[in-house]
Amino acid sequence: MSAEIRITPMTPAHLVQVMEIEKASFTVPWSEITYFREITENPYAIYIVATAAEEVAGYAGRWLILDESHITNIAVAPGWRRKGVARKLMEYMLRASLGQGANRMTLEVRRSNLGAQKLYEEFDFSVAGLRRGYYTDNNEDALIMWQYDIAAYLDRKERKDGADNGN
Ligand SMILES: CC(C)(COP(=O)(O)OP(=O)(O)OC[C@H]1O[C@@H](n2cnc3c(N)ncnc32)[C@H](O)[C@@H]1OP(=O)(O)O)[C@@H](O)C(=O)NCCC(=O)NCCS
Repeated sequence: MSAEIRITPMTPAHLVQVMEIEKASFTVPWSEITYFREITENPYAIYIVATAAEEVAGYAGRWLILDESHITNIAVAPGWRRKGVARKLMEYMLRASLGQGANRMTLEVRRSNLGAQKLYEEFDFSVAGLRRGYYTDNNEDALIMWQYDIAAYLDRKERKDGADNGN
């Protein structure tokens, strides 16, 4: 099913569907106006959507600050989960960050969000620190994860994919 997925920049036309996914995914969802400002006004923000035909299956955003890329959000519609959509979004973000001169990427994730942590570990993120009580809804800690060398990761991945394809 993930073969049908296209990754494109998020536009205001996507926001109704983005908000449905946002509300289904986060206990403290961002507002539509926040997303609107992120995609129309914030020069450091880059947001993408994963679509299947006209349907938004998921989205992700990041801020580019000098040579660091900071993931702000990633979410996939409940009906699209475990089909590789987030993996596609992450890979796109890593490649795009590198293309813009950022070889390092960071994010925060709830300590209890083991599924997301497993996704990030697949992309060579590792835990580098902790923000105690970062999530105000339940006072949960955030793990700070870093990927310190995107180029090396993508290089290893291309070699592995080549080997898997018999090249
Ligand atoms: C986390 C989230 C973005 C993952 O999206 P997804 O499209 O389902 O993820 P993928 O299908 O690309 O998963 C890739 C790999 O990540 C890991 N993974 C993803 N979700 C997982 C889960 N719920 N439990 C265990 N592992 C999980 C698995 O290793 C998976 O590979 P596999 O399916 O072959 O086992 C999605 O569950 C979501 O939107 N959650 C709510 C919002 C959220 O928590 N965002 C992250 C905030 S930091």
